[in-house]
Amino acid sequence: MDFKDVVKNRYSCKSYDGRKVEPEKLAAILEAGRLAPTAKNLQEQHIYVIQSDEGLAKIDNCTPCRYNAGTCLIVAFDKNNVYTYPNSTRESGVEDAAIVATHLMLAAANEGVDSCWLNCIDLDKIAQEFNLPENEEVLMILDLGYAAEGAGPLANHSNRKAISETVTYL
Ligand SMILES: Cc1cc2nc3c(=O)[nH]c(=O)nc-3n(C[C@H](O)[C@H](O)[C@H](O)COP(=O)(O)O)c2cc1C
Repeated sequence: MDFKDVVKNRYSCKSYDGRKVEPEKLAAILEAGRLAPTAKNLQEQHIYVIQSDEGLAKIDNCTPCRYNAGTCLIVAFDKNNVYTYPNSTRESGVEDAAIVATHLMLAAANEGVDSCWLNCIDLDKIAQEFNLPENEEVLMILDLGYAAEGAGPLANHSNRKAISETVTYL
């Protein structure tokens, strides 16, 4: 798909028909995450693919926002392998994982797969439910799947500020 169409077509899907993402499409989505840039190329991301009934039930224990998606990705990163910027206390983990997650989300749109970025979640509970390693921090969950019949973008999807409100040429 043309990149402009990918960006234009993507929206946060909040009702799915429950179908799982096909392995070939999932592989293409995960590959886009693999190719994302990270600070110092540390590649500290760790992505968990959840598709089993048991795993999806665990997601439901932590957030009401799975919306019947048949596939969820948990995007986490290794807290012990992040870059601390010089003269700063800022670390790269959240930033790097967010770039990876954005690649995953846009690659999904490119594959014709609907998605929703979730962060209204008890992230610690996710880590507990899935028994994730102590050194990993969860950034977000990406719902993936196919919109249920009649579902589509919410009204706020088409409500974006004008470029002049968010961009300044200096
Ligand atoms: C960082 C972030 C966190 C979000 N968390 C949630 C969430 O927990 N639950 C949810 O239903 N949508 C969530 N969303 C989706 C936003 O509500 C949605 O992207 C926004 O309203 C714009 O709509 P659009 O993506 O359809 O353009 C999140 C989006 C982002 C970028």
